[in-house]
Amino acid sequence: MDHQQITPRLTLWLSFASLVLLYSVMLIGVYISASNFGLFCTEWPLCPNGFNLPPPKYLFEHYHRVLVVITGIFIYTTSVYAIKNARNTRKYAIASSVIISLQILLGMLVVNTKLQPLIVAIHLSTGVLLFAMTLMTFLSAYKMTGKKSAI
Ligand code: HEM
Repeated sequence: MDHQQITPRLTLWLSFASLVLLYSVMLIGVYISASNFGLFCTEWPLCPNGFNLPPPKYLFEHYHRVLVVITGIFIYTTSVYAIKNARNTRKYAIASSVIISLQILLGMLVVNTKLQPLIVAIHLSTGVLLFAMTLMTFLSAYKMTGKKSAI
C-alpha cells in the first residue's frame, strides 16, 4: 500500500473517531443541560481540577470539557491529513476545524454568561453543524478510499 492510499484511509479513521467523540460530547452536553448541572464549574476552558479526577459536583462538566480537548486533537489532525492528501475531503475537514474553534469559544460564553438561553441555543445548533461537517468529512473520505480500491 503506497503513501497515497494510506492517507485517505487515515483521514477516514480519524474522522470516524471524531464522530464517535463528538457524539459523546453532545450526549453529555444535553445531559448536563437537562439535569441543570451546568453552573457548577465556572472556569474555562477546563474545570478547576484540570485533567485530574473531578469532585462529583461537576463530574459531567469535567468530562464534557476533557472530551472536547481530545475531540479537538482528532479534528485538527484530520484536517492536517486532509489538507495534505485528500483533496475532496479538505473543505469539510477545514470547516470542522473552524467550527470546533468557534464552538470552544461559544463554550466560554455559555459559562461566562451563566447559561444565557440564546447562547446555549447557539451552542447546541453549532454542535449539530459541527457533527454534520465531520460526517461530510467521513463520507467524502469513504468515497475516496472506495475509488482507490476500485483502481
Ligand atoms: C466540540 C465542542 C462542543 C460541543 C459539540 C458541545 C456540545 C454541547 C451540547 C450539544 C450541549 C447541550 C445543549 C442543550 O441541550 O441545550 C452542551 C452543553 C453545554 N456545554 Fe458544550 N459543547 C462543546 C464544547 C464546550 C466547551 C468548550 C464548554 C466550556 C468550556 C462547554 C460548556 C457547556 C455547558 C456549560 C453546557 C451546559 C449548558 C446548560 O446547562 O444549559 N461546551 N454542549
